[in-house]
Amino acid sequence: MPRFEPHPDPRPAIVTGASSGIGAATALALAAAGHPVALGARRTDRLDDLAAKIVADGGEAIAVALDLTDDASIRGFVRRAEDGLGPIEVLVSNAGDVQPITTTADPAEFARQMQVNLLGAQALVHEVVPAMVRRRRGDVVFVTSEVAHSPRTHMAAYVASKAGLEGFAAAMAMECEGTGVRVGIVRPGPSATEQGTTWSVESVEEVVASWQHWGLLRHDGSLRPAEMAQAILAVVSAPKGTRWAVLEVQPEAPVREGEP
Ligand SMILES: NC(=O)c1ccc[n+]([C@@H]2O[C@H](COP(=O)([O-])OP(=O)(O)OC[C@H]3O[C@@H](n4cnc5c(N)ncnc54)[C@H](OP(=O)(O)O)[C@@H]3O)[C@@H](O)[C@H]2O)c1
Repeated sequence: MPRFEPHPDPRPAIVTGASSGIGAATALALAAAGHPVALGARRTDRLDDLAAKIVADGGEAIAVALDLTDDASIRGFVRRAEDGLGPIEVLVSNAGDVQPITTTADPAEFARQMQVNLLGAQALVHEVVPAMVRRRRGDVVFVTSEVAHSPRTHMAAYVASKAGLEGFAAAMAMECEGTGVRVGIVRPGPSATEQGTTWSVESVEEVVASWQHWGLLRHDGSLRPAEMAQAILAVVSAPKGTRWAVLEVQPEAPVREGEP
């Protein structure tokens, strides 16, 4: 007798923030591994294109609008995902927003980032996880950030939300102990995605100068979305009987020329 029942097959999965970057790459990786995937984000044209690619490649995917600042949208997203794919076995809470603001920023802007990065993730858990607990199985992965332990200037809401998300995930892992529901944190380092690409040139210059002042830009290596996707897939695919609690992935520094 195995210590634990094996994973069911297939395992329908939700990926939030699937319209770009790490989320899109994760959806592709999960689909290639046999998971039917529900793709969530606001830019549904991108989700439609990605779902079509997954289906053309022999996988199963549906594109569903999701705005994590809107409770009704979150509820509707989960219902449509379940209607389309069946009970959700895997939740990848990946969507995130970061705008360059400081601790004295407009509270409304601060709250909006907290809503997407932290409160939206909790609202998804509220919709998805009780049924996982009843079924006595499931995987939940929170995509956090290295800023959770290494804060950066000009990212006040982002740092607070990601640190909060890690605390939330740790508390949830304790609550889920013995339920068959596994909770994992995947914590990316710097990654080449669309994050930050909407910032003004002036903002980028100010932020980079500040990070240099604080010694935060030690090399210019960055992760590719597909590399982060492999980490998320590994956590979700970990054999039953194990739980990968925290996986931090950092870019390797470019190899120096010459003698060490
Ligand atoms: N890039 C990095 O260096 C880095 C480092 C550490 C951690 N991370 C984390 O990795 C995760 C993925 O980010 P990424 O780097 O892949 O950036 P990205 O390419 O900008 O992707 C962010 C995703 O979040 C979605 N999103 C933003 N606001 C949303 C909202 N209100 N409702 C629903 N979805 C929303 C976006 O979709 P729509 O705009 O279409 O809604 C997009 O799909 C984030 O949690 C980020 O904090 C990134």
